[in-house]
Amino acid sequence: MTPWLAKRCCKRSNFVDAGYVTQLSDVIGVVTDMYSTRFHLSQQARRGMLALGACLSERRLAWLRNGLGSLEQGHWLARHGWVPNVKDRFAVFTAALDLVKGHRPLYLEFGVYKGRTIRWWSNNLNCDQARFVGFDTFTGLPEDWRHDARRGSFNAGQIPLIDDPRVSFVRGLFHEILPDWTPPDHDQLIVSVDCDLYTSSREVLDWLDPHLSPGTLVYFDDLFERDHEPRAMTEWLQRHRHRVHPLVMGRWGHHLLLEYR
Ligand SMILES: C[S@@+](CC[C@H](N)C(=O)[O-])C[C@H]1O[C@@H](n2cnc3c(N)ncnc32)[C@H](O)[C@@H]1O
Repeated sequence: MTPWLAKRCCKRSNFVDAGYVTQLSDVIGVVTDMYSTRFHLSQQARRGMLALGACLSERRLAWLRNGLGSLEQGHWLARHGWVPNVKDRFAVFTAALDLVKGHRPLYLEFGVYKGRTIRWWSNNLNCDQARFVGFDTFTGLPEDWRHDARRGSFNAGQIPLIDDPRVSFVRGLFHEILPDWTPPDHDQLIVSVDCDLYTSSREVLDWLDPHLSPGTLVYFDDLFERDHEPRAMTEWLQRHRHRVHPLVMGRWGHHLLLEYR
């Protein structure tokens, strides 16, 4: 990568260290050049990669996969509008709050655990007719997610106690409860996908499709495990290519808020 291009990337992403970007892109350049060279070298490159892979631990491989996920996210953002980055999920929610224009907003949270984020919404969305519905098994993840978050992680043990009559919960597995669940009357939908797993996120997004309308906000909490939420999000974005626009990200792509237009 030329210094000029590195500077341009940095400017676009608001990232200050052009030297760092150049170093990273040099490594990527070497790998992709080796692969794209025809005949022997690309075979050599594959052979080298196999040898390298043989020495890598599961954890390092996961880092590489997730690094590729960040590259893909940067690629997508550059083509759909680079967005501001904020400190954490609550700063993303604060930005989302400014976009809640309806008088009867409906906030749906898929993945509640102990209720930290749904509580934030009930405390901060001051609108009498707002409704907040949280969906969860409350017994933890139905499948393994990461090496340090296996099936049963995030077992809350009970439904959270939230002293707000606008808040309710639906208990069970998404694929069992969603087909029979009808959303209450609303004029704007805000959806939080915070269920970590690919299958769970995909079930939520499939269910969501017929309920989307202009102004719907969709928040993804965990976009750092490429094979999980990002994979489900990418498939969903492919279905709604021209209608979904990024608005703000948190922790450099760990969280992302999108709007359906
Ligand atoms: C990371 S936690 C949610 C964190 C939460 N939003 C907070 O404020 O702390 C993920 C939750 O998703 C739930 N979950 C994942 N897949 C699910 C599924 N298919 N059906 C129901 N709940 C699911 C798990 O039980 C777990 O409580």
